[in-house]
Amino acid sequence: MPEPFRLGIAGLGTVGTGVVKIIQEHGALLAARAGRAIEIVAVSARNPLKERGIDLSRYEWVDDAQALAGRTDIDAVVELIGGSEGLARALVEGSLQAGKHVITANKALLAHHGYALAQCAEENSVCLSYEAAAAGGIPIIKALREGFAGNNIQAVYGILNGTCNYILTAMRESGRNFSEVLLEAQERGYAESDPSFDVDGVDAAHKLCLLTSLSFGVKPDFNSLKVKGIRRIDAMDITFAQELGYRIKLLGIARRLNGKIMQVLEPCLVPVDSPLGVIEDVYNAVYVEGDFVSTQLLTGRGAGEGPTGSAVISDIVDLARGQRIPAFGVVTTALKDAQWKPLGETVARFYIRLSVFDRAGVIADISAILRDMNISIESLIQRGRDPGQPVPIVLTTHESPQGAVMEACDLFSRLEAVVDEPCLIRIEDFK
Ligand SMILES: NC(=O)c1ccc[n+]([C@@H]2O[C@H](COP(=O)([O-])OP(=O)(O)OC[C@H]3O[C@@H](n4cnc5c(N)ncnc54)[C@H](OP(=O)(O)O)[C@@H]3O)[C@@H](O)[C@H]2O)c1
Repeated sequence: MPEPFRLGIAGLGTVGTGVVKIIQEHGALLAARAGRAIEIVAVSARNPLKERGIDLSRYEWVDDAQALAGRTDIDAVVELIGGSEGLARALVEGSLQAGKHVITANKALLAHHGYALAQCAEENSVCLSYEAAAAGGIPIIKALREGFAGNNIQAVYGILNGTCNYILTAMRESGRNFSEVLLEAQERGYAESDPSFDVDGVDAAHKLCLLTSLSFGVKPDFNSLKVKGIRRIDAMDITFAQELGYRIKLLGIARRLNGKIMQVLEPCLVPVDSPLGVIEDVYNAVYVEGDFVSTQLLTGRGAGEGPTGSAVISDIVDLARGQRIPAFGVVTTALKDAQWKPLGETVARFYIRLSVFDRAGVIADISAILRDMNISIESLIQRGRDPGQPVPIVLTTHESPQGAVMEACDLFSRLEAVVDEPCLIRIEDFK
C-alpha cells in the first residue's frame, strides 16, 4: 500500500468539522478512490476546549496553526479559518513556500491574492486547490478546469449566495421587507450576525471573481468588479417583478463581449419560469455557456457543513491521487490581464421604479427624459392615488445602453416630484 496522504487541518468550524466527519465516516471509500489512505495528522483551531461533536483525540492538537506549514510529516495543509488577510493568508503562503499543497475554501483570500498565491504554488511545485470556495457542494471549479476544458467559455453566471437567495425567496413568499426577513434568516442560522458580506454581495463577488478567471483565463481581479447587494430591494419591487412575470435574484454574471469581458454582481430580474427563476431558498445555480458544450446548468447546495466539506474532500482525493492542475486552469504566466467592458456600454432591458408625488405632468416629464435619452418604454405601471403621498411608478425599457439608462435615472432623481433614488434593476432573459 502506498504511503498515506497526510493532512494538517486549520479551522474546525462549520467546514472543518464537515471535513473531519467525512474522513472519519468514509475512510475506506476515500482510500479506495485515492489509492492510498487519507490521514489527518494534526488539527488546529482557536479554542482547544470547544465541543465540536467530533472525536479529535486521535489527532495532534496544534495551538499555532501556522506551525502546520513547517511540519515535515504533513503533505497538505487544509486552511478553513477564513479571511483574506491575517492568519489564513500567512498559513497559506507559508505552507506553499514550505512545499506543501494547500486546500482551502477561502474565496476572500483567493479573490484578493489568488494570482500571487498561484504563482507561489507553481514556484514551489505544489497545488493550490479550492473547490469549496465557490458554490459549496456544486463542483463548478472542477467543471471549469476539467469538464469544460474543450470549450471556449462565452459566459458564466448564476446565483452564488444562498443567504441572499433565501432572503429574496422569503420576501417574495411573505411580502415582508428586507430587514424583517434578514432578522429571521439570522435567527434560523442562514445569515451571520454581521450579514454585510452576504447581503452587500461581497461573498458572491469573491466567487464570481474566481469563476471569471477560470472561464476566461484572466487574472482574478476583485477590485474591478462592480458589486451591488440586495439591501435596497423593497418588498414592492418583488411584487411588481412578479406582476411583470419576473423574480429578483442576486446574480453574478461574466460574459465575453467583443473581445472584452463584462463582469457584474447585482440583483436582476429573471423570468419566473426560467431555470434561474425557480432556484429558491439557500440553493445556488451556475450556468456555463461553452462554444461546443452549449449551455449547462449546475445546481445544488452552496453552503453548509456537508456540501462544503464534500467539496474540500474532492480536492484532497485529487491531490492524494497525484492529480496536479494549475490553480486557475492554466499556468500563471498564461493568465492575461482582462480587458473589462464598462457596464455603461452594455445593453440590456431595465426595470425602473420611481417614487413620485402624483402631480399633473409627472409622467410627461419622465417620458421626455426617456425620449431625450433615446430609451423606449416597454411597459408602465402607475398604481394608487394618494394626494400628498408618494406613489410608485414602474416602467420597463426595451434594450438600451446601461449608461443612458443610468443617466436617465439621474435626471429622474432631479425632478421635483420624484422622491428617493430611483430603483434600477437589469432584466436578464438569458436568450
Ligand atoms: N460555512 C460555509 O458554508 C462555507 C461555504 C463555503 C466556503 N466557506 C469558507 O470556509 C472557510 C471557513 O468557514 P466556516 O464557516 O467553517 O467558518 P467558522 O465556522 O467560523 O470556523 C472558523 C474556524 O477557524 C478557527 N479560527 C478562527 N480564528 C483562528 C485563529 N486565529 N487561530 C486558529 N483558528 C482560528 C475557529 O476556531 P474556533 O472554532 O476555536 O473558534 C473555527 O474553528 C471560510 O473561508 C469560508 O469563507 C464556508
